[in-house]
Amino acid sequence: MDRDPRCPFDPPAGLRGLPPMARLEFSDGHLGWLATTSEAARAVLSDPRFSARRELKHPAVRFTTPGAAGRPAPAGFFGAMDPPEHTRYRRLLTGQFTLRRMRLLEPRIERVAADHLDAMAAAGPPADLVSAYALPIPSVVICELLGVPYADHDFFQERSLRIVAPDGDVDGATADLAGYLGELVRRKRSAPEDDLISGLLGELPDEELVTVAMLLLVAGHETTANMLALGVFALLEAGRAYEEGPNGTDTVEELLRWLSIVHLGAPSRAALEDVVVAGTPVGKGETVALSLPMINRDPAVFGDPDVLDPGRAEARRHLSFGHGVHQCLGQQLARLELRLGLRALFGRLPGLRLAVPAAEIPLKQHAAVYGVASLPVTWSQDR
Ligand code: HEM
Repeated sequence: MDRDPRCPFDPPAGLRGLPPMARLEFSDGHLGWLATTSEAARAVLSDPRFSARRELKHPAVRFTTPGAAGRPAPAGFFGAMDPPEHTRYRRLLTGQFTLRRMRLLEPRIERVAADHLDAMAAAGPPADLVSAYALPIPSVVICELLGVPYADHDFFQERSLRIVAPDGDVDGATADLAGYLGELVRRKRSAPEDDLISGLLGELPDEELVTVAMLLLVAGHETTANMLALGVFALLEAGRAYEEGPNGTDTVEELLRWLSIVHLGAPSRAALEDVVVAGTPVGKGETVALSLPMINRDPAVFGDPDVLDPGRAEARRHLSFGHGVHQCLGQQLARLELRLGLRALFGRLPGLRLAVPAAEIPLKQHAAVYGVASLPVTWSQDR
């Protein structure tokens, strides 16, 4: 469903007015459910009677992550596992992504942002903010964390884009990435380095390690890059600069809520038995997809939900990072990258503005992760 190009930040009009659990017709005519309120979403995501296993979900559900729905996920793909299998992988990784660990990265993220701003300033306006800034920052950072050479970014960014694209060749792109990461894992086995992939060599067999690395690499840059570029677009359209509230993250939380870049299909779950969700009976075997754009505009949780208000106290109640056991592993990293990335950009480039009319900004209408394909910006050079 398309967002209105005149207001690229609002949920598609066709989603408005749906009940908390709406009947959803998947592309092949099969009926499942769409959860549209925060209460329904939290109920689904926190209930062990709902499974994340891909082979149980309806094949027409699209995913942001490797492989297609309707068949078992590759070994190690913990995004599509249930506890206790899922728990084992989370335990291996959680310590690597804590807020404390992420804070140690702060100087490095600031440096990466500053270097890219230097390059933009040296080249002079205009620039495409996606390729010059929003995509490189999370890509460099996730590469350094995992131990993937950033020099190969053209290769893995192109494959990642195909994985989340509407009609992308998911299988081909996944196979390319698996081949590339398989080679990398083999090299690290003979010469381990000080990085996350090397740290997991003793914990996981190669096949699983490749899948985990792929999940982290793809999820670790595509999402944040889209959020950063779309966030800048939204702030510029609202005539605002980046502001930090008392806890330093208000604008970021509100942008995460208001923009809801993860679209229909992810997250989604399959009912393992008959369950009642928000008063609606869901039958065993039925798939429930979540509409994060609607859930994050739920008037029962957010006053004036359609207003972008960086000062709103309840912004943190958004579900942009999911909820329950599968809640985003990289959320502290994403928050940090967004905060530091926005702060550096608005601080460094005075008079930052769009270089073309807003209506000409190309939107990723049907991608599983929403955003802008490019964002031409300009700024004043007198400083
Ligand atoms: C899971 C969103 C950044 C890694 C998720 C989920 C959402 C999400 C909604 C839950 C999926 C579900 O319940 O089925 C986002 C957004 C991001 C972001 C909006 C940026 C703004 C990142 C980053 C990483 C990452 C930077 C890098 C490490 C993951 C992983 C999972 C996940 C590994 C699967 C967790 C599990 O199944 O236990 N993300 N994410 N994400 N995210 Fe993120």
